[in-house]
Amino acid sequence: MATSEPVQQSWELESSRPRVLLAASGSVAAIKFESLCRIFSEWAEVRAVATKSALHFVDRSSLPSDVVLYTDDDEWSTWTKIGDEVLHIELRKWADIMVIAPLSANTLAKIAGGLCDNLLTCIIRAWDYKKPIFAAPAMNTFMWNNPFTARHIETMNQLGISLVPPTTKRLACGDYGNGAMAEPSQIHTTVRLACKSQTFGTGISPAHPSSGHPV
Ligand SMILES: Cc1cc2nc3c(=O)[nH]c(=O)nc-3n(C[C@H](O)[C@H](O)[C@H](O)COP(=O)(O)O)c2cc1C
Repeated sequence: MATSEPVQQSWELESSRPRVLLAASGSVAAIKFESLCRIFSEWAEVRAVATKSALHFVDRSSLPSDVVLYTDDDEWSTWTKIGDEVLHIELRKWADIMVIAPLSANTLAKIAGGLCDNLLTCIIRAWDYKKPIFAAPAMNTFMWNNPFTARHIETMNQLGISLVPPTTKRLACGDYGNGAMAEPSQIHTTVRLACKSQTFGTGISPAHPSSGHPV
């Protein structure tokens, strides 16, 4: 995994591939974040964001070497004075597509309520909803079935955030039911199909034939 660096600096080194911002929040499903980064890295420039809770599950050392992982600490260490870049704004400008996977119940609620108290939620609060944004919820069935979830998902729909629905299976806690994050391959396929016909700031579509990666 690459160490955090100013967004602008890394920008200049990039090729003209679609820019995908992957974000993990604090669900146990974040153990699959590395796999998600790897799949998207095959055809896109990937930057990653993780909440403080997600860092309990993401093995930073296992991320692809060209994927920079940004955390709340970077939000503040990259800013010292007026005129410095603000990380959540720079990442929001940088990204063509955003994918939040996993989306925890807590971050879901914060997004629905417009709260922005960490790097991930500040990016969402500043997001340009003309750009595609996806979220793959992951939580225990009790949480998924809680009435708050439907209310918050409804707000996400209204915002224009596309849902990659959870699946039913034996969960990490041992319970059986709905709430497990969709598999990384499923999330990837959903994003690529949805963005297939779009071109991005770089002028390249994610489904561009030269990527060599069929949807
Ligand atoms: C071992 C463990 C597993 C957890 N798994 C989940 C989960 O799958 N989904 C979820 O919504 N919350 C889960 N939580 C709770 C979240 O980590 C907690 O709500 C946290 O505040 C989320 O913060 P974030 O949304 O800023 O990442 C888990 C907590 C622990 C201790």
